[in-house]
Amino acid sequence: MCDAIYIHVPFCINKCEYCDFLSFKSTPSKRKEYVEYLKKEIKLYPEFDYDTVYFGGGTPSLLDPLEIKEILELLHIKENAEVTLEVNPKSVDFKKLRAFRDAGINRLSIGVQSFDPYYLKLIGRLHTDIEAEEIYRDARKAGFDNISLDLMFSLPGQSIEDVKKDLIKITGLRPEHISIYSLIWEEGTPLYEKLLKGELKETDNEIEAKMYELIIEFLKSEGYIHYEVSNFSLPGNEARHNTKYWENKEYLGAGLGASGYIGNQRYKNAVNFKDYYGKIDNNKKPYEEVGVLNEKEKEEYRYILGLRLLEKGVEADGEYNNKCLKLEKKGYLTKKSGRYILTPKGLMIANDVFEEFIS
Ligand SMILES: C[S@@+](CC[C@H](N)C(=O)[O-])C[C@H]1O[C@@H](n2cnc3c(N)ncnc32)[C@H](O)[C@@H]1O
Ligand code: SF4
Repeated sequence: MCDAIYIHVPFCINKCEYCDFLSFKSTPSKRKEYVEYLKKEIKLYPEFDYDTVYFGGGTPSLLDPLEIKEILELLHIKENAEVTLEVNPKSVDFKKLRAFRDAGINRLSIGVQSFDPYYLKLIGRLHTDIEAEEIYRDARKAGFDNISLDLMFSLPGQSIEDVKKDLIKITGLRPEHISIYSLIWEEGTPLYEKLLKGELKETDNEIEAKMYELIIEFLKSEGYIHYEVSNFSLPGNEARHNTKYWENKEYLGAGLGASGYIGNQRYKNAVNFKDYYGKIDNNKKPYEEVGVLNEKEKEEYRYILGLRLLEKGVEADGEYNNKCLKLEKKGYLTKKSGRYILTPKGLMIANDVFEEFIS
C-alpha cells in the first residue's frame, strides 16, 4: 500500500559548488509550467491516501506557496500527515514561510550546511550563517514546530574543532531533527575540479572518522537519538517519510528525475524536461527506467536500507541469516529484540557492511 509521495522540484537559485542533485536555474514562468506538469503527472496515478508528503529538490521553497497549495489540494492527505518542504534559507522570508504553513506544510528541512561564514562561502552557499539562523527563528515564529536542519562536515580544511563549533551552535537552536552528511566529492562539480587542480584537499580518513564519532557522542549527550546513519532526532521526531524508504516501503515519486517504488516496480522518471513533458503530454507516466524487482533484489534492498536504521535494524531469515551471523562474529552486527542492528564498529564502515548483502 502506497501512502507516501516524494515530489521533486529541480530548481535552485544557484548551484552550490559541491552539489550534483538534479536542479537548474529557472524563471517564475518555467516553474509555473513545471508545476502544471507535476499536477498532470500526479493525476496519472490512482488516488492514494497519503500519510507523508515530501517536497525535495533542488529547492522546493523557490516555488510560490500558492503553487505548493495547488499541488497539495490534488492529494488526498490523511489527518496528522507529515508534510515536509526542503528550504534553502536564501529563498524564503517570514511572510513566505507563513504562507507555506497556511498552504499545509507542517515540517521544514532547512539546508544550513555550516554556521561558519568561511566554509559557507567556500562551498558556494548564497546565505550567511546569520541569515540561516534568522530563517530558522522566522520559521518558529511562522508556527513550525517540526524543523530539521542539514549540516555537512569533512569540508575542505575543516578541523575537528570547527565541527564542534557547528555542533554547539546547532544544538543551541534545538531543532527537532538534524541530518548531518559527510561531504561527498561529486565528479564534475566545481569543488571536485578544485580537488583535481590541487587547490583543495580531502579530509584525512582518520580525522573524518573522529569527526563522525564526535558528532554522534555530542548529539547523543544533547538528547538526540541517532536513529539512522546520518540522522538524529529528539525523541518522537524521526523523519516519518524518509523512514519509509529505509523500511523498504512503497512510495510514489513525482517530478523530473524522481524515483518511486510501487507494487513490485522501482522506477525513475525522465531527467530532461523535454522527455518528461513529452511523456506527460501523451498521458504516459514519465518513466525513463522501470524494473520489476525479483525476490532476491527485494531482500537485498530490505537489508541495505533496514540496517541504516540503527535502533530498529532488520529481521534476518533464509540465506541472509548466515551473512548476518558472520558479520556478528566480526563485531559489525549485533542482535537487539531479535533483529540485527549495526554495532558502533559496524557503523564506522557501514557501506562495506551493506555491500556484503549485494550479490
Ligand atoms: C536538496 S538539498 C536541501 C535543501 C536545499 N536545496 C539547500 O541546499 O538548502 C539536500 C541536502 O543534501 C546535502 N548534500 C548535497 N550535496 C551533498 C554532497 N555532495 N555531499 C554531502 N551532502 C550533500 C546537503 O546537506 C543538502 O542540504
Ligand atoms: S545543495 Fe541545495 S541549494 Fe545547493 S545546489 Fe544542491 S539542491 Fe541546490
